[in-house]
Amino acid sequence: MLTVRAPATSANLGSGFDVFGVALARPADVVRVERARETSIEVTGAGADFIPTDPAKNTAGVVARELDAPARIQIDKGVRPSSGLGSSAASAAGAAVALNELYDLGLSGEDLVWAAAEGEAAVSGDAHADNVAPSILGGFTIVTDHGITRIDADLPVVACLPETIVSTREARGAVPDSATVEQMVETVGNAATLVAGMCRDDPELVGRGMDDPVVTPARTPLIDGYDAVAGRARDAGATGVTVSGAGPAVLAVCRPGTRREVANAMVSGFADAGVEARAYQTEIGRGAELCR
Ligand code: HSE
Repeated sequence: MLTVRAPATSANLGSGFDVFGVALARPADVVRVERARETSIEVTGAGADFIPTDPAKNTAGVVARELDAPARIQIDKGVRPSSGLGSSAASAAGAAVALNELYDLGLSGEDLVWAAAEGEAAVSGDAHADNVAPSILGGFTIVTDHGITRIDADLPVVACLPETIVSTREARGAVPDSATVEQMVETVGNAATLVAGMCRDDPELVGRGMDDPVVTPARTPLIDGYDAVAGRARDAGATGVTVSGAGPAVLAVCRPGTRREVANAMVSGFADAGVEARAYQTEIGRGAELCR
């Protein structure tokens, strides 16, 4: 069997709704594949009971179909579903990278991103690539209709995951239909600042650039305890805090040496709201890779 580790990801980063994403060094899914006449899926690990094993309904199964690469696929979930940490994307990304290798398809990273995005589309109804792009390519990614730009970035982050569920459908339904020109100007300025910060590995610029006047404020009421968690994280050394993907995970970019304090502060913030949570002290990491 061939084994690939595919990382969790955090999409949006506030100002880059449906555009920005980062790979997280952990957690990750582990995807194992071997050639077969027909695709079959087995799922173990975090939230496995909630993940369909019908290949037509599982992101990895759809990727196998898209690549015409039937396989027995075993997915060991390290990324809990409905977390805001790109769970279905990690499985799709792992399958795409593994099947490319298994069948010696010779596809580029960007080709694999679009194949994995089809997996996301089949499951969520929308072909978002803002999670699959960083899970495959690693680093910080900018996805637009014109292509994908990848930037190597090295920043400490904390992803704090409460034991609650936010439906992606509800989170997308909360997004306003329109924004004012003032909000657009603010968002463009923040997004540009964030990109400059990623190029310089500068947590201050990235944190400043994460502010978003439109999407994030519409979604935070869906996450119990969000305001306390964000406030405490900033007090403990985070330069920027936002909803990770569609939530409920919350992402904090940290000043060097503050990750542990930020993680503890975020877990306490959720505890004050009566919500259990766990924090991943991690960093922007590499994309999916073969385990030798
Ligand atoms: N950009 C997407 C969202 C990520 O925030 O809705 C989740 O698919």
